[in-house]
Amino acid sequence: MLALVTGASSGIGYEISKYLSQFGYDIIAVGQNIERLNFLKLECKTNVIIERVDLSNIENCINLCEKYENKDISILVNCAGIGAIGWFDQLSLNQELNLINVNIIATHILTKFFIDTMLKNNKGTILNVASSAAFAPGPLMATYYATKSYVFKLSTSISKELKKKKSKVNVSVLCPGPVKTEFNKRLNIDYSVKPTTPEYVAKYSIKKLLKGKKVIIPGFKNKLGVIASKVLPDVILEEYIYNMQSKKIK
Ligand SMILES: NC(=O)c1ccc[n+]([C@@H]2O[C@H](COP(=O)([O-])OP(=O)(O)OC[C@H]3O[C@@H](n4cnc5c(N)ncnc54)[C@H](OP(=O)(O)O)[C@@H]3O)[C@@H](O)[C@H]2O)c1
Repeated sequence: MLALVTGASSGIGYEISKYLSQFGYDIIAVGQNIERLNFLKLECKTNVIIERVDLSNIENCINLCEKYENKDISILVNCAGIGAIGWFDQLSLNQELNLINVNIIATHILTKFFIDTMLKNNKGTILNVASSAAFAPGPLMATYYATKSYVFKLSTSISKELKKKKSKVNVSVLCPGPVKTEFNKRLNIDYSVKPTTPEYVAKYSIKKLLKGKKVIIPGFKNKLGVIASKVLPDVILEEYIYNMQSKKIK
């Protein structure tokens, strides 16, 4: 059994890789930080193939897919992701394009390539990592929230198509709330609420994924937050999220 995990060098992707390894999966661990990927390799009992790839580059994504598309990957986890916080007009275009490339384009390309092989074999499962941010407007994190909304809608729509085709291939989407990883450190911001652990998110999501759950929302408070995002009008959510994010900007 073989799983390809992006974002395997840190946080949720790192813990998902470790957990899948405990289930007996060999891991193709994709990331940029070789030291962390080597550490993951030491922590796993199964075989770990390290792939140092900058997923913000389209050509790199396609090369990665071409290398592994016929390798009978049972699980693809698109977990690599980055954020950006600040006023839309003040964030640099390059930073935002980089974010869109990692969060959307890389996820889209990998999903597209691997679903093709999975459909031919009529087996396999894909876990795309979105966020509870997918359900709400995100002033001061506008681009990040929009990318997660894209990942959510793409994944649930493909999942419906697969059901209509009566395919055994599965696409699920993971929507965590705040998780204590490198994510906020990279942005130099604090959490607005107590974050959950990446270990919990990884175990919960893989258990649900293997049961075929389509939308995976870890944590009780996070589930309540998602329900609130669905029932409250956007004008209220926009104001609430603006206030929450503005407190994080130092
Ligand atoms: N933490 C949260 O509160 C939270 C909440 C909801 C959703 N999420 C989502 O969860 C996913 C994982 O994030 P995390 O919280 O685990 O954060 P993290 O610890 O910062 O991990 C992010 C991962 O993405 C990889 N990555 C970033 N840019 C990359 C690039 N250009 N090429 C290849 N890999 C790249 C990083 O690899 P390198 O370090 O090796 O570059 C790292 O492995 C993201 O999609 C994030 O949006 C996180």
